Amino acid sequence: MDAPLFSAASVRRRQRRWIPRPFYTLRVRLIISVALVHVVLMGLFTWEAVERQSHELRLEMVNQGRSLASMMVVASTNALLAEDLASLAEVTRRVGVREDVAYGEVVDMRGFVLASTREGRVGRMVGPMIERNDRFPLAADDRVLDLREDVLIGKDRVGFVLLGLSTINLDNALVDTRNRGIQYILLALVIGSVAAWLLSLAVTRNLRDLTQAAKKIGAGDLNVRVNVPGQDETGTLARAFNLMAASLQRSSRQMEQEHRKRTEAERLACVGEMAASIAHEIRNPMVALINSVKLLEDSQLPAGDRAAVVDIVNTESSRLQRILDDFLMFSRLPMPKLESGDLKTLVEQTIGLIGQDPRYGEGVQFECRYEADNHCRFDSDLMRQVLLNLIMNAIQAINGEGKLIIRLQREQDHLNVSIVDSGRGIPEDMVSEVTKPFFTSRKDGTGLGLPVVQRILAQHGTALSITSLEGYGTEMAFDLEVTSDE
Ligand SMILES: Nc1ncnc2c1ncn2[C@@H]1O[C@H](COP(=O)(O)OP(=O)(O)O)[C@@H](O)[C@H]1O
Ligand SMILES: [Mg+2]
Repeated sequence: MDAPLFSAASVRRRQRRWIPRPFYTLRVRLIISVALVHVVLMGLFTWEAVERQSHELRLEMVNQGRSLASMMVVASTNALLAEDLASLAEVTRRVGVREDVAYGEVVDMRGFVLASTREGRVGRMVGPMIERNDRFPLAADDRVLDLREDVLIGKDRVGFVLLGLSTINLDNALVDTRNRGIQYILLALVIGSVAAWLLSLAVTRNLRDLTQAAKKIGAGDLNVRVNVPGQDETGTLARAFNLMAASLQRSSRQMEQEHRKRTEAERLACVGEMAASIAHEIRNPMVALINSVKLLEDSQLPAGDRAAVVDIVNTESSRLQRILDDFLMFSRLPMPKLESGDLKTLVEQTIGLIGQDPRYGEGVQFECRYEADNHCRFDSDLMRQVLLNLIMNAIQAINGEGKLIIRLQREQDHLNVSIVDSGRGIPEDMVSEVTKPFFTSRKDGTGLGLPVVQRILAQHGTALSITSLEGYGTEMAFDLEVTSDE
């Protein structure tokens, strides 16, 4: 079945690819979070302060404007009645010197300006009626707060004063507050980032130590411990880590000791088994030899019997020698000298060696298949012993007429050596037994041939593979490292 094009994991991977690498680190994420929190909080605080200040300043300004307008009303009432323009001009002049006053005017009932701080305004009509404009917010480009106050005599209105207050000071004060707020935000950003950086430094340093220690433990160094003082979470983690490492070390030591004990026990058992097997193997030929020697001592023994007894002595002593030779070979294998050599030559030499003994190979039809180049790495003395043991076993399994194929086949960087016979084969449940020391199914066998083969092959960094079908034949095979023929 095809894998879904957009599995959840692949989508997640694709999404994460858009996040630059440094943002994965705990340190960067911590710094960004703390800085963001600082900026947002300080921003809100500054905005709130500006709003409050602006509200208070405006309120104060309106109140001030109103009382100033009222004072103008009081000062201009009599002059208005008397149409004393000079006094009215004095009222507006006095008001006009104030820094925060944009203009001040006295207007009669009909709407004519009688006195004004603005030039060219006196005598002009200000229109039917000026609406009061003493409410904030003003239009965006309006920098003047307009106030109107009626001049009343009793209930009659005899005129009114107009007063414009400049909002420049107010605006400047607000800009000041906002700028100071921005400075505080930047300061908070710097302090927050530095604090987060210091905090993350402490945390990530501890995590880095823990990571390095975990890597060392993974590589097999169980002595490693971390030193993270403190009662915080990383300290607790480090103590748990150290406990885990100590416990791992204890179990590893225990396992090592148990393994040593087991191998020692196995070795001793093996030595005992071997000693018993050797004693058993040697006993029969020894008994035969002792009896033969006793017979030979008898000077009356007929010549024909004497010759038969001498024959027994020869056979049994050579059997004894074979057992001891095989055992010596098995127990004291020399260190291999691995060199590049032509295995075909060695195979032919070994077959020649076997062919010299008329007891072996009669009726066996040999077939050899080689590669064009059969160079590989081996110790020729030891490899000759391997070939000899395997070919001898095959001949013994054929036991009469049969076929024996020796095939060298190149497979990638190794040469596969295979010895196939058409002998009696090995019962399926015996295949794993035949390589054990002293296992033999032959009357004159020692059961050390295949164990020697196995040990030599292990020295060559390879192993014997056995495939067999009872009643049909057996294949014994192994690989050798290919070398060039130069
Ligand atoms: N090619 C083979 N075909 C059938 N049986 C085999 C073959 N090679 C080995 N064996 C079995 O494995 C046993 C052990 O072989 P080996 O270790 O060489 O000892 P030995 O030849 O002294 O018996 C043999 O006795 C035989 O039963
Ligand atoms: Mg053998």
